[in-house]
Amino acid sequence: MLLALAPMQDVTDLAFMRTLARVGSLPDLLVTPYFRSTPTTCALAEQNLRCIEGNETGVPIEAQLAGSDATALVRDARHLLTLPVSGINLNAGCPSPLVNRHGAGAGLLREPDNFREVLQALRLAVPAGKFTVKCRLGWADDTEFAALLELLSEAKPDMLTVHARTRKDLYGGKPRFEHVRRAVRAMDCPVLANGDLQTPEQVLHCLEVTDAAGVMIGRGAVRNPFIFRQLRGGESPAQEEMRDYYRILVEETGRILFGIRTEKGHCNRMKKYLAFCYPDFTAEQEYALRRCTVVEEMLRLLGGT
Ligand SMILES: Cc1cc2nc3c(=O)[nH]c(=O)nc-3n(C[C@H](O)[C@H](O)[C@H](O)COP(=O)(O)O)c2cc1C
Repeated sequence: MLLALAPMQDVTDLAFMRTLARVGSLPDLLVTPYFRSTPTTCALAEQNLRCIEGNETGVPIEAQLAGSDATALVRDARHLLTLPVSGINLNAGCPSPLVNRHGAGAGLLREPDNFREVLQALRLAVPAGKFTVKCRLGWADDTEFAALLELLSEAKPDMLTVHARTRKDLYGGKPRFEHVRRAVRAMDCPVLANGDLQTPEQVLHCLEVTDAAGVMIGRGAVRNPFIFRQLRGGESPAQEEMRDYYRILVEETGRILFGIRTEKGHCNRMKKYLAFCYPDFTAEQEYALRRCTVVEEMLRLLGGT
């Protein structure tokens, strides 16, 4: 079973990746949040570059690109391949209107001819074993997936991750894993299932119904970073370990922000991760955490779970 950490802009950053290493629960693959690629520029967001340059976890990391212009994507893939990355991942799932307006992210799914061109150009430009794709089931409707799978299998990526929702679903509704099973049958490469996998039981059930080679986990790993350890047969986390997790995450976030941000900025940065952890806190704790602007106070609130 291959375990990958899902890219999440501003969330699965270097601090979070280092935290996974420190709590002893690493996946097999990391993917950076997307670098936006356009004909005029590749926005090499510093925080995403840091994930690559500061990756001391020993786990391979792919650089993700979001764009819709084949020439620009090839240019930026070539540049990113000069960095210590294990491959290039094409984002065909981001639902942000800003990104979609330019035909990128899930916008690629709405324009199959351009999607084909992008896939084939990247396949040609990226060496064997290093080109992967992350996509949704379609733009508006999952009936689009059959045709998308044809394009994808023609392009022969080295791995495909399927977030089992359409763009229209955004992050709501139940993921439709039956489509992941279809992808497993149609593709010649390993397929990873993605979407709302929060517990080891859900992962095992998903693998059983999809026959996927593995899973990609995002929000579930922020809420419980020990999920990777558990999926390798390790223990579920003790309360003490969860406290250590929050403390380490505060430390690692501070390490990255040191000298750049204020104390309030540090707390606000923490809230980007905590947004996915609030279900594990009492309503009072959540209320206090949301308002907290002092790191010591935040640590006290997190330690009191
Ligand atoms: C805050 C946030 C940021 C995200 N950023 C990215 C991104 O940069 N690239 C990407 O492919 N998907 C991104 N996603 C989607 C996730 O990778 C994943 O597909 C989605 O959250 C479903 O998986 P999960 O339920 O395990 O989190 C993001 C999701 C969230 C919630």
